[in-house]
Amino acid sequence: MRTDTGQVFRLEDYRPSDYLIPKTDLTFRLHPEATVVTAELTVVRREGTQARTPLILDGDGLVLQRIEIDGVALAVSEYVATPEQLTISSPPVAGEFRLVVETLVSPSTNSALMGLYRTSGVYCTQCEAEGFRRITYFLDRPDVLSIYTVRLEALKSEAPLLLSNGNREETGKLKGGWHYAIWHDPFPKPSYLFALVAGDLGFMADEFVTASGRKVDLGIYVEHGKERLAGYAMDALKRSMKWDEEVYGREYDLDIFNIVAVSDFNMGAMENKGLNIFNDKYVLADENTATDADFANIEAIIAHEYFHNWTGNRITCRDWFQLCLKEGLTVFRDHEFSADQRSRPVKRIAEVRTLRSHQFPEDQGPLAHPVRPRRYREINNFYTATVYEKGSEVVRMIRTILGADDFRRGMDLYFERHDGEAATIEDFLKVFEDVSGRDLSQFALWYHQAGTPNVTVSTSYNAAAREFVVEIEQSVPATPSEARKRLMHIPLAFGLVGRDGKDMAYEGPDGATVENGVIHLKKRRHVVRFGNIAQRPALSINRGFSAPVTLSVEQRKEDRFFLARHDSDAFSRWQAYNTLLTDALISASRKGLGGKTPEFPEKLVELAGAIAGDETLEHAFRALALALPGEADIAREIGKNIDPDVIFASRQVLAETIARSNEDALRSLYGSLAFKGRFSPDAASAGRRALRNTLLDYLAILPGGVALAHAHFAKATNMTDRAAALAVLTHRHPRAHETIDALKTFERRFRSDQLVMDKWLTIQATAPGAATLDKVRALTEYAGFTMHNPNRVRALIGAFATANQTAFNRPDGAGYEFFARAVLEIEPRNPQLAARLATALRSWRSLEPGRREKAREALLLISRQDGLSPDLRDIVERTLA
Ligand code: TRP
Ligand code: ZN
Repeated sequence: MRTDTGQVFRLEDYRPSDYLIPKTDLTFRLHPEATVVTAELTVVRREGTQARTPLILDGDGLVLQRIEIDGVALAVSEYVATPEQLTISSPPVAGEFRLVVETLVSPSTNSALMGLYRTSGVYCTQCEAEGFRRITYFLDRPDVLSIYTVRLEALKSEAPLLLSNGNREETGKLKGGWHYAIWHDPFPKPSYLFALVAGDLGFMADEFVTASGRKVDLGIYVEHGKERLAGYAMDALKRSMKWDEEVYGREYDLDIFNIVAVSDFNMGAMENKGLNIFNDKYVLADENTATDADFANIEAIIAHEYFHNWTGNRITCRDWFQLCLKEGLTVFRDHEFSADQRSRPVKRIAEVRTLRSHQFPEDQGPLAHPVRPRRYREINNFYTATVYEKGSEVVRMIRTILGADDFRRGMDLYFERHDGEAATIEDFLKVFEDVSGRDLSQFALWYHQAGTPNVTVSTSYNAAAREFVVEIEQSVPATPSEARKRLMHIPLAFGLVGRDGKDMAYEGPDGATVENGVIHLKKRRHVVRFGNIAQRPALSINRGFSAPVTLSVEQRKEDRFFLARHDSDAFSRWQAYNTLLTDALISASRKGLGGKTPEFPEKLVELAGAIAGDETLEHAFRALALALPGEADIAREIGKNIDPDVIFASRQVLAETIARSNEDALRSLYGSLAFKGRFSPDAASAGRRALRNTLLDYLAILPGGVALAHAHFAKATNMTDRAAALAVLTHRHPRAHETIDALKTFERRFRSDQLVMDKWLTIQATAPGAATLDKVRALTEYAGFTMHNPNRVRALIGAFATANQTAFNRPDGAGYEFFARAVLEIEPRNPQLAARLATALRSWRSLEPGRREKAREALLLISRQDGLSPDLRDIVERTLA
């Protein structure tokens, strides 16, 4: 494992490489402990580089075996090879040469899951961001594009399947039971997109005919016996390919597109050219093993990786500071894809919930950074919600500002202008300026400035003047290393909702401030006057969550209630009700500090029943509206001196009150939603299940609730219902014998299926209350659990730390200490996983003083460890700073 050198990388230090590598020929002689990697690189001195400039290649833990230039072995005086670097002090003056470098790597002992490693006996690679340098010495940076030809050799019995990027050009037998395959990828690519897979896998084959009539062979490779479980992923792939043709005019460009599912993977998936590698969690699914949420994730991630072929691969990033160029844009594309495949408003609400629960705390805490950061110590730690999710919101705002037509023209220009290049955010913004004639320089701050802007709004109505006035102010809070902030361009979609629920027409505001239903906030304060308004409207603002800001609107409660039922924008309808719930929970939590049972407004409680039974609303929408704001959401809104136990208690009382007051309605609706037909993962069917399962969560609180939830569990014919019922039992009635029975039944049925058992682990790890810590500790000893597999770790330790407010934040600090020790246990094997996990402590400063101190001690426990990896050291030091 590398230890931290404290080196900081800065955007302003970027300069092009001295040398280029137009051709890369790799040979792998695969062996579990001793794989020989021979790289034959065509190296060219860049125009403008002085002759005799040293060639310095990146490495990471490498052992050099052999080195030659133009067929002649180098003398020891001609190069210096360390595990981290290969320096050739004076390369041939002619300026172009063939460099042969042979390294020896050990896939079996590579537990970091970066570079070449083995998972369940399969060889695979992960090279983004800087994993290629763990395979061979290279200019391992995204602006060095090369054409790869890859020869794989393996023992045929061990690896009958040999895959790499591009097209398969040749296969053949070798002596001693070995065989080989040669792959050629005609598209120049950076090293982070290189991939190989070799092993014994089953597969599902299909094909796709592109818009221009080219046939593409599709393959999804999975463990033998699981081929059938790739059906949904295959279907999602074909739909993604079609969608990118229809919506962006982008066709696939190779004859083969392969996906491989592996069970040890640090992230969701990886977009290697023509050979995507996936965490099997995001490929394998059927109704018995996957929930509706799993199906939706599979669809989104398959699409995401596929869309990278254009946004990421054909046009890549100049340097890692530009990561959002491919990630933010590709997330935006996958969000839109899912919105088109499912319900647009429901998808948008789900996105906003994720943004608020993952990105807002990041942006408002010690790890805050701009969508395009200016400095980093460890790039692995910048695959964040800010780069991905806020990055997507920024692209969405560009579309809001330009309109759909100019946005599409801008994207067309982007593909035309930068195809085959390694581009920057400036390049991206420029295409939209060029097609629209707009100046996006103030807007560009969304990329450069960290922090969630706060927007406050107040309104007044003058009946005599028939004028409705909206006053809006923005402020951007200071974030680490950026004390002073500039004013942003914030596009706020809005409507003035009349008493009939329709948007009212208006006159007045100038076209620069209000354009096509959007208020463009550019100054600190705007006073927007709407004329010819006959009645006081209710202001619906930030419709569709047009800008990722925190909003506080001074608004009459009755307007909020009205909007919750009548706003024509479904997102805003959800938001209005959600704000009412959040406000009520916050004030209950404040009062709760006095030890009294909180009370909730009757109107709010009744509204839950009304929304539940409103047949004009989609099932999924109703389910989302009824799901109360999470404990962490409430904590975030409160902001400081958080006591998670008080928040938990208030939330419980509200849930109970809603259930009791609306019992008959909820019960009959629950009964009416039972479904006997064939399972389908489509959005409408999933919505129906979501609503029924949300209702179960309420009804389980009432008398007879245990029996009801147990029956729901026992009769479940799919994993969505089964897991939902198991969670309701475990969280609402942890000690009931029905719960213990259900957990056992589940375990007995699924114990050989690790991915399903991850749900069983998560459900138990997220049971509220201090006692869960002991349960989690015990589960670390469970036979199916191992700290060595990222999915297991995230299912148990990750879920405990991020989704269990009361147990993780035990007042005695035992939750934090257990967690810190788990992080330290994981770190030597897999620093990237440990660092990601450790971000769960990032909001420690907003806790009440007792817990705050305990959390700090846990962070110190980690930081005092000798020889920490750059990954974990970076997170812990920034968190403590
Ligand atoms: N580029 C991948 C994606 O977003 C992310 C990714 C997969 C990754 N594996 C990784 C990033 C390992 C860093 C390290 O689609
Ligand atoms: Zn991505």
